[in-house]
Amino acid sequence: MEATGGIKNTSFKVLAHTSNSQIKQHIPYGGVVPMLAKREHLKNLPILLEKTLKEAKRNLSLNLIAVTYGPGLEPALWTGITFAQELAKKWKVPIIPVNHMEGHILSVFGKVEGKFSIKLSDYEFPMLALLVSGGHTQLVLIKKWLDYEILGETLDDAVGEAFDKVARMLGLPYPGGPEISRLAEIARKIPLLRGGSKRRGGKKSTSPATAGTPQEENFHLPRPMFYIKDFNFSFSGLKTAVLYLIRKIGKLDKTTKSQIALEFEKAAVECLIYKTKKAIEEYKIKTVIVGGGVAANKYLRSEMKKITGRNIKLLFPTQELSGDNSLMIGIAGYLQYMKNKGKIPSPSSIKADGGLKL
Ligand code: KG4
Ligand code: ZN
Repeated sequence: MEATGGIKNTSFKVLAHTSNSQIKQHIPYGGVVPMLAKREHLKNLPILLEKTLKEAKRNLSLNLIAVTYGPGLEPALWTGITFAQELAKKWKVPIIPVNHMEGHILSVFGKVEGKFSIKLSDYEFPMLALLVSGGHTQLVLIKKWLDYEILGETLDDAVGEAFDKVARMLGLPYPGGPEISRLAEIARKIPLLRGGSKRRGGKKSTSPATAGTPQEENFHLPRPMFYIKDFNFSFSGLKTAVLYLIRKIGKLDKTTKSQIALEFEKAAVECLIYKTKKAIEEYKIKTVIVGGGVAANKYLRSEMKKITGRNIKLLFPTQELSGDNSLMIGIAGYLQYMKNKGKIPSPSSIKADGGLKL
């Protein structure tokens, strides 16, 4: 990526964008295995670099490297850091350590091809970022550019993790988010799959978002944390409710699986929407950003549009940039570089930090 301009008006030109998914290697284990991830990174990084430089038609004339140093699985983070350190030494260029979650926030401004710019005067503050991934569920207040205040986060499982675990319970492959979403779409589209007023496996809904509205699904799952006045989330109880429901039903046919997927997706998204709406009102938010793998979810996208309306600018990453990608790290790296001019850490001082906060 070529980057020019200052922090308030930055232009980017994508020269090449490549990625390598390890999902296939992790599917047999039903989730990411840290040491396997490290081994795959070690093997793939040099191959990917060569491919990227070839695609960009560049010799090794780079002048800045951005690398993720947290949060995440430390063995995998270390692989990236060590690789960046070796390159920095060879090419005599500085390294900018980047927070993965800041990458997800800034991913909404990116494009995988051609040119794009981030002109700050186009966006009004305060901004609110809803970050939804396999490891995080956070509501972040942004009053100043590149300055973050966490309003709330999950107390247990991340929302993406809940999607993955529920998918596993339903016998769906990893990663579960897209699979659950696909089944929920099937249940939504075929009216015969909807159970009218008949209800199985749960009490009548009393959650604020569903109270008084007719329920179309056969099942009802809880909406945890609705009545807790803070901005935190919890998805572990919802996941356990699915487990109990599945046990109660016994054998699951495709129709039942789709109905459970639909009700789970609705419950999880309603939890996100409810707290996001509350934060928008309380902090008089002007711009909303949604980032992280779960931002690819179509139902979440459509529900977010409903609560933001016309007066609030709503920003999503493209489908390709919703999940983890290097472009968002490049954007964050350049903006941090501009922000911290003159204060570049020595490459050897960069350390992986699995629990890094925004
Ligand atoms: O940001 P990401 O790519 O990796 C982490 O930083 O964790 O997020 C991955 C998560 C996985 O849990 C995956 O199931 C979820 O994003 N995900 C989705 C969808 N696509 C990916 N969840 C719900 N609906 C989707 N369409
Ligand atoms: Zn991520």
